[in-house]
Amino acid sequence: MSNITDEISKRRTFAIISHPDAGKTTITEQMLLFGGVVREAGTVKGKKSGNFAKSDWMEIEQKRGISVTSSVLQFDFDGKRINILDTPGHEDFSEDTYRTLMAVDSAVMVIDSAKGIEPQTKKLFEIVKQRHIPVFTFFNKLDRDGRDPLELMAELEDILGIDTYPMNWPIGSGQVLQGLYNMYDNKVELYKADANGNKEIPLEADGNIADGNVLKENKIWRDALDEVELVQMAGNQLDEDAILRGELSPVFFGSALTNFGVESFLKTYLKYAPAPSAKHTVDGDAVEPESDQFSGFVFKIQANMNPQHRDRIAFVRIVSGEFQRGMDVTLGRENKKIRLSNVTQFMADSRENVETAVPGDIIGVYDTGTFQIGDTIFSGKKQIQFEDLPTFTPELFMRVSAKNVMKQKSFHKGIAQLVQEGTIQLYSAWSSGDYILGAVGQLQFEVFKFRMENEYNSEIVLEPMGHKIARWINPEQLDEKMASSRNLLVRDRFEQPLFLFENQFAERWFKDKYPKVELESKL
Ligand code: G4P
Repeated sequence: MSNITDEISKRRTFAIISHPDAGKTTITEQMLLFGGVVREAGTVKGKKSGNFAKSDWMEIEQKRGISVTSSVLQFDFDGKRINILDTPGHEDFSEDTYRTLMAVDSAVMVIDSAKGIEPQTKKLFEIVKQRHIPVFTFFNKLDRDGRDPLELMAELEDILGIDTYPMNWPIGSGQVLQGLYNMYDNKVELYKADANGNKEIPLEADGNIADGNVLKENKIWRDALDEVELVQMAGNQLDEDAILRGELSPVFFGSALTNFGVESFLKTYLKYAPAPSAKHTVDGDAVEPESDQFSGFVFKIQANMNPQHRDRIAFVRIVSGEFQRGMDVTLGRENKKIRLSNVTQFMADSRENVETAVPGDIIGVYDTGTFQIGDTIFSGKKQIQFEDLPTFTPELFMRVSAKNVMKQKSFHKGIAQLVQEGTIQLYSAWSSGDYILGAVGQLQFEVFKFRMENEYNSEIVLEPMGHKIARWINPEQLDEKMASSRNLLVRDRFEQPLFLFENQFAERWFKDKYPKVELESKL
């Protein structure tokens, strides 16, 4: 690689966040098509072609037609190298979905314009907001009758608490969709080519259309112009710094299915989205991507992609320096040297051995049980330890025990490993010591059960406890008598005490009763 600075400046690493069915897969496929990665649409998700879900450990995935793993797709487009980190697109998302957001430089939020903001988008957006990740919005399905664009923008601002700026504006929608008014390049993108075969019409300096154009007499066009005028006068300014701080979301409209507005969205997005930037260590130092020293962190561990080999893959986001196959790195946590020889990168339908990679790229390192989520690896002598990845507060809980009491050993081994990998959270009841599992989505329990049985030969019994509100308590303030059936006292795997409240009412009751006690949630 000749010029690493050049390579870094070309990288755009992002995740698409959305609610299931908003069109994430469709838009991803369109983008891959622009990049020439897939020949036909429909190769991203196993449910459509069976191409991607090759590994059969993912029977769950195939059975339920969902993507359990977040995959990483890399392709080139418009002079940039793009890494899309896919987040599982099912409402049973897991902590992996959240953690993926720790490894991106920006996010694209796809929203169904008939539905507006839905719960999963909101949850994921909360993380994006806390991390100040720049976020771009794509209102999808413009070919269908959707909600009023002004209303959609207002909802975005109200519900998510972020400023918005329209990059384009729909000219009609559904049956009467005419096109998009692109503010950023003063053009109309036509939904269907006009009589002369044009797909685009340049606008005049004042943003109007030249005399004689058929659109000029069209009421839908005039309505759109009025709205554009309104949002331009009353709305926010396009402020690139505010975009980079994650305070302003550029908004685009389009239709992924009919490939309308997707290419111009991607091009504009690539222009405004940030390249990889510095990351902070626990000591507060910033590690710049251009540094000579290679560094990266593990944000996800995927087990048994190949069931024959029982291998695990640690997904590493490169933060600084250049990765070269066969290089020696140090695993900071254990001060252990590791040679990175068996490393893959992920394409839409294949995994390839990778020779070099730069900041922004994601590499998959074969792992025999060495890595943990949040680990830092680095080359050279200077120690680098990045800030810990946040843990997310689980909402769902189940008691877990071994079905066969004679098989405690494999049960404990399996739990220990899967918890270390970050598959699920483990707690134990304060007095009885019974194991309790916590997750952000139901799917995590299913994956856990499946893997316990298939990898550790341990059949388990799961006993649902339902939704709980987990709140950590300062150990010095803890009195065991505070526990009751409505606020179960448990310890986490770091021996820290927390209460599992039955509901908000129980939490409020507790706070009233013990006003001095501080309760804390994770992200
Ligand atoms: P997801 O990954 O966010 O879950 O959504 P996905 O892309 O799978 O899209 C969900 C459904 O919405 C699909 O239809 C897809 O064809 C449709 N869709 C996506 N973008 C648009 C759009 O711009 N306009 C319209 N009208 N529909 C769109 P499906 O019938 O559920 O799936 P399929 O079996 O047709 O693939």
